[in-house]
Amino acid sequence: MPETLFTNISQLVTPAPGVQRGAAMGDLSVIPDAALLVSGGRVQWVGPRAEAPGMVQEHDLGGVAVVPGLVDPHTHSIWAGDRLADFEARVQGVPYEEILARGGGIRSSMRATGAASVNELVALARPRLHTLRASGATTIEVKSGYGLDFRAEVRMLEAVRRLRRELFVMPTLLIHVPPTEGRTDYVRAVCEELIPEVASSGLAETVDVFCEKEAFTVEETRQIFVAARANELDFKLHADQFHAIGGTELACELGALSVDHLEASGPAQIAALAASNTVATILPGVTLHLGLPAAPGRALIDAGAAVAVGTDLNPGSSPVFSVQLALALAVRLNRLTPAEALTACTVNAAAALGLGDRAALAPGQRADFLALHSADWRDLAYTLGANPVRDVWMDGRHV
Ligand code: NIG
Ligand code: FE
Repeated sequence: MPETLFTNISQLVTPAPGVQRGAAMGDLSVIPDAALLVSGGRVQWVGPRAEAPGMVQEHDLGGVAVVPGLVDPHTHSIWAGDRLADFEARVQGVPYEEILARGGGIRSSMRATGAASVNELVALARPRLHTLRASGATTIEVKSGYGLDFRAEVRMLEAVRRLRRELFVMPTLLIHVPPTEGRTDYVRAVCEELIPEVASSGLAETVDVFCEKEAFTVEETRQIFVAARANELDFKLHADQFHAIGGTELACELGALSVDHLEASGPAQIAALAASNTVATILPGVTLHLGLPAAPGRALIDAGAAVAVGTDLNPGSSPVFSVQLALALAVRLNRLTPAEALTACTVNAAAALGLGDRAALAPGQRADFLALHSADWRDLAYTLGANPVRDVWMDGRHV
């Protein structure tokens, strides 16, 4: 791959590489009239245009702002069927948890997804993932979790593996809701059969659990995390979405990569996250779509936690197909500043996936970056309902 010098960049805006906590989340580097040198799919150099190396092929970006490619650390992009009837019921007052308790909600997505082939799942997920990428996501996490039955879980992860050839997707095994009968045996089989199978086949490197009154208990979550660790897998958690039942504290104690949702988190959960290396991932699309309280993004940052933002793209709680929209909503709903929101959607989201090689424009990082339509990067946090991202590069390639 030849060296290319990207020029005519009104502002090159980036956080420093690696996870950023607390007040450091607001520290961005903003270089006016910048240039970006890319070689072999990596960033070689960034700086003012006037100081750029000469004698290299140039690519004129037309006077717009450049930011790192965004990372979406939490999606359920693979599902079959739809939740349109749930949506209609919910907006007329039936709560999400009640729909789930009645056997609808996630369980209805499980029935449809469990009946689909790998080919069908790939065909359903592909356009969703391309839409996310066009919104700025150059790395996207994708969970299983609509399988219930283990063969269906494995089919979901095989679909993610197939999509890996065309997009940068990170697979996660999600243990989502227990069966209505035999949950003790189910958790045992997850720990003794499914997790070892997924680990040995390399289908996922991370295990996630939905820890909630209508899903798994804290004790069941602990068993699943212990099994993940014994199989050398990372783990993360859906916690405090409706009730703070102790999942966040457990995840921080055991060293989870991230705890996600946090709409019902209070001072104890905020303190646990701030005192740990676990990333606090907030999902403002859920607040918007389910009308839940907003996760305490502002309080988490003020307490010193590392906050990330994701879309949580899924049919039930967050039909948000844009990582840029998630960023923009975090500013309105969770009271992040635009600078903090960019950090939350770049290096901190990468850290939530255990990745330190991307999402900052600094030498040695992957050359994943976005050219906006605007000369001012803040349009990324400002725009609602249109796409401020003009062009996307992954590994130095225009996609
Ligand atoms: O992250 N809360 C649990 N899981 C998903 C929702 C999945 C669904 O409703 O289908 C979430 O919100
Ligand atoms: Fe989720």
